[in-house]
Amino acid sequence: MEQNGEGKPKVPIIFDGMVCPRLPPLVKDAKERFEEIRDLPCKKDDVLLVIYPKSGTHWVWEIVCMLLKKKAEYMKESKEFFFLEAIPDMSVVHNLVSPRPLNTHVPYRWLPKQHIENGGKIVHVLRNPKDVAVSMYHHFNSTQEFVEPLDFKTFYEKVFMGPVQVFGGWFSFEKEFEEAEAKDTRSAILTLHYESLKKNPIQETKKLAKFLNIDVNDELIAEIVDKCSFKKLKEATDTVKDFIKIPAVSEEMKHGGKAKEMMSMLYRKGEIGDWKNHFTVALNEQFDAVFNLEMKDSKIQVQYE
Ligand code: A3P
Repeated sequence: MEQNGEGKPKVPIIFDGMVCPRLPPLVKDAKERFEEIRDLPCKKDDVLLVIYPKSGTHWVWEIVCMLLKKKAEYMKESKEFFFLEAIPDMSVVHNLVSPRPLNTHVPYRWLPKQHIENGGKIVHVLRNPKDVAVSMYHHFNSTQEFVEPLDFKTFYEKVFMGPVQVFGGWFSFEKEFEEAEAKDTRSAILTLHYESLKKNPIQETKKLAKFLNIDVNDELIAEIVDKCSFKKLKEATDTVKDFIKIPAVSEEMKHGGKAKEMMSMLYRKGEIGDWKNHFTVALNEQFDAVFNLEMKDSKIQVQYE
């Protein structure tokens, strides 16, 4: 169902009130994949990154992997290899070496039940929604999610704040997560803020290591922070990753060398506050009004700069 450039995805996959990205397993049967995720057999030492899209998933995934290995070495595989919505066949997950750094964008209600029952670790990253909107806008335009490139305002109104939003939308995703975290009596969930990680990477990486019960010295923490800086991680994506192992992309993309291009553009700017270059004063005021209404009962503190 090809659409015009009015902000509609080329092939909108809608499931349970969410627009899902056009990853092959979701294109094939989104319900089946969501159910497979919810029913996934889990191990007690699995680590699950549950992060709204464009909030720093690749960055934090790489840090988690280095902490789990206790080595400041990049993974040869990309995070997509452990991405529950994108893995072509879920049986692959069973053969991954433990502890498994799994990651997903599905909202809390669709997380693997067994992982929650086990009290398995969940790492959540929260980024301010204005920068998330900007990051998603550039991502969708460069992956040609729309037939014609959209301007930011159209994307914002029709997609980011549209009637059916990506993974249910930032507000719904984060409020659902906040509710779950409030009930988390086993301290199984850690929420990091993208902005805090950017401003105080050593302190936040230590917090993450402590949460994962990983005993690492200050030297290694500093090395991990350095290797996972925006610039170095972007470079490593070009030089270290084995793109043949990326399951999310099509055959055509692999052979055309587009996988590398696509992965590289995931590291776009890596800054706090790019929203100021995209939101007009009017759009910003409109967003703040929606935010105040949506988040009136929430304790979430968002950092816009
Ligand atoms: P921008 O588009 O604002 O640059 P995800 O991995 O969830 O798709 O998130 C992508 C966003 O995280 C992109 O934001 C990307 O540049 C940013 N990012 C990736 N690595 C980063 C790093 N090491 N430091 C800061 N931001 C990073």
